[in-house]
Order: sequence, then C-alpha cells, then structure tokens
Amino acid sequence: SDAKADYYQVVQRKASIEILPGLKTEIMGYDGLLPGPTFDVRSGRTTIIEQVNQLDVATVVHLHGGHTPAPSDGWPLDLIMPENGGHGGHHMMGDGDTTMGKRTYTYPNTQRAATLWYHDHTMDYTAPQVYRGLFGLHIIRDDEEDNLPLPKGDREIPLVIADRAFDADGSLLYPALPTGPGVEPKYMEGVIADVTLVNGAPWPVHEVDAVRYRLRILNASNARRYELAFDRPPATFVQIGSDGGLLDKPIDHASLVIAPAERFDVIVDFTQYQPGDEVTLINKLDGNANVMRFRIARKAVDDTRIPDKLSSYAVTPRPSGAVRREWRFRRGNAGDHRGWTINGKAFDPKVMQAQVPLDQYEIWTFVTDVHHPVHVHLAPFQVLSRGGSSKLSAYDHGWKDTVDIRPAEVVEVLVRFSAHKGKYLIHCHNLEHEDMAMMAGFETV
Ligand code: C2O
Ligand code: CU
Ligand code: CU
Repeated sequence: SDAKADYYQVVQRKASIEILPGLKTEIMGYDGLLPGPTFDVRSGRTTIIEQVNQLDVATVVHLHGGHTPAPSDGWPLDLIMPENGGHGGHHMMGDGDTTMGKRTYTYPNTQRAATLWYHDHTMDYTAPQVYRGLFGLHIIRDDEEDNLPLPKGDREIPLVIADRAFDADGSLLYPALPTGPGVEPKYMEGVIADVTLVNGAPWPVHEVDAVRYRLRILNASNARRYELAFDRPPATFVQIGSDGGLLDKPIDHASLVIAPAERFDVIVDFTQYQPGDEVTLINKLDGNANVMRFRIARKAVDDTRIPDKLSSYAVTPRPSGAVRREWRFRRGNAGDHRGWTINGKAFDPKVMQAQVPLDQYEIWTFVTDVHHPVHVHLAPFQVLSRGGSSKLSAYDHGWKDTVDIRPAEVVEVLVRFSAHKGKYLIHCHNLEHEDMAMMAGFETV
C-alpha cells in the first residue's frame, strides 16, 4: 500500500477443497478459493490487483459494477495466458490485448459504496469458468454509508448464492455445451443445478443473535433466478440498496426476486424470535426449497435503526430529447451462429454496435423474447419504465447494473457514461446465453 493505492496479488489456480462433506472437489479459484477473496475497499481509493494465471486455460477478470478504465474492464479477448506455458485451452493469442502469465488490473473505485463482484469473462468460456469457481466479492464503502446506524461488523453478512451440480465423487458437473459453426446449441435456458451454495457451502446453517442483520445478497448463479422468502414469520426484507449502492429510502419486500448477477442489500429483523428458533431462507421459485437456515442463538442488544432517508441519491427525471438506443435480446441465428443474439447479431469482438458519447444521458430500451437479465458495463442505470408503464417493479429501484427482463417485455433505462473512453459490453447475464454470443460491444467516445 501507499498513499493512494492498495496493491494485491491474486493467484488463479486449481485447488481441491471440501464443499460436500467428506468429498474433494477440484475447483478453479482465485487464490484457490470458492468464492475468491473478498476485497473490502474505500470509495476513491485505488485498488491494484496483479492476477497471476496458474490455470491451464486462458482467463479474463471483470469487476462487475465497477467504474473501470477499459484496459482493466476485462474485454473477453484481453486474455491472461497460463503462466506455466500451457496452451491456453481453447484460446490462442492474437485478437485482443493478451498478456503472458499475469495482468495488472487497476480499479479506481471512484463510485459510491456498493456491493460489486468480480468474475471471469473469457470469450465463449465465461459460464464454465465461473461455474468452477472464478468469482468473488468486491465491496466499496464510503462515509455516507458508514454514518448510517445500520448493522455492522459480524451483523453484516454477504450471501453469495450459486447453484452447482456434483458427481458422486464430488467433482463439479458442468455439461459440455456444443459450439461451432452451424451447431445446434443445447442448454438454451442455461445450466441449472441442484445444490445451493451460499458463500461456497451447501445449504449452510448460520447462528445469529435475535437482532437486525444486514445481508448483502448476490445471485452468482449462471442461470437460476430465485424468489427468496423466509419460511417463518415475521422476518421479511427491508431493502436498503441495489446493484449500485444505497436507495434513497428503504423498501419493504415480503419476498425478493433476484436474477443472475443482481445484488440486493437488505436488513432482516430477527428480534421477534426466541433462542433455538430456526428460520429458513427459501426459494419460492423452486418449491420453497431450502437456501440456508438462520439459527437464533441468543437475545442481544440492538441499537441499530433503518433511517427513512438512506442516501442523498435522488431519482433523475426523464430527460427530454435524450438519444435513444434499442437493444433486442432474442434467440436467433446469425450467419453460421446458432443461439442467442442482440439486435440480430452474435457477439463479434471486432464490431461495436454503438458509439456512445461520454457525459450525456441516453435512454436505452431493452426488448426480450424470453427472460434475460440484461447487464451493462461501466455505468449503472436507472429503470424508467417496464412493460410500457412508469410503474416499476418493486425490484427496479435505485441504480442498477443488471435488470431482469421478463418474457416479451420492454424496459427503458436511463444511462450516462463518464470518464473512461474505450470498448465496453452489454450482455445477457445468463452466462450460457452470454457464451452463446448474447453480448455486444459498444465504445464510449
Ligand atoms: Cu458480471 Cu460483463 O459481467
Ligand atoms: Cu459487468
Ligand atoms: Cu439471456
């Protein structure tokens, strides 16, 4: 560390870890961990991370939700080739800014407090590589948030939810997705698995005091969406933040629909429970299946409170005369490509679908055929309308970077990029859809 920046090194490597009791699972992990190490950083203070690739495949690191200069944003062909002289798996050097063995990523963290995450973004192989473990949290904090009387310390818990499937010997099961010119794809809805991991542990039980907790929930699943609820009243969710940080004021939810890559920052109140009680976090979209349990250990003092006003963030009104762009997310063929497309095109790293001037508000319209969680790099957006109505869904508030768009729905968002010129991405965050080319480059100018 020096006055302006903190330096870290992360080694991407295989590791054999115990996820299911008594079995060993080989993963690809940042520092051999699943999830990878959590970066806990201050707004405005730069984080510089040297990523060393000791795997035998090429990798790319992206900070999801980061206001990141393009050379550090994880363009899918800015590959880190394996340090050990491996052949790079499926990839060869050439089309991007490829580096040998390692690459240094610079994150200025010039943004408000928010729950970000980092994950692999390798062209065509993001889904299997994230599935095998290449994801972790990057939490940005600031004074505005620190000054709120919210639960802190061990009463602030990240919940990284990810579904995974295992073979009888403990190895991760990821199906081979057939790809190639003219090949009919499989797993068109993405890969859904039967074991729910929270922070890398299957269906964990967490002991809590009978007080309020802050849960930072991330859906790190490749394709599964959840409707989270508690099986036993009165616990509900008071949402205080979304992808891009604090809301202006809290929102109550009896249940929480969370699509891949979305984050919900919530307060859960356990004060009405008795020691010994168990409260299960369930997924209503999967027959109320267990996600994890909270076991109430003891009564304790709680001096926290959820203020009516959380942040100075204010809703930006719809500008008149803003530039509009439409992004159509559809199943389709494009030349030899079979799979998913944006505006009728499969991802081509040589094609920029838009030139977007910095510092101007634009209204982007997302149009879908089936469910797609749409994600934009570099800047968060504000949802303006859903299904033709300015009445948003309960989950649309605040600054978002991923928005869950339901079948045949139209969502308008307000977006503005600043500071960084270069190549960025818009894509579906169903990771199999992304790998099946439902991604587009745009350039900020
Ligand atoms: Cu979380 Cu472009 O991805
Ligand atoms: Cu991203
Ligand atoms: Cu999709």
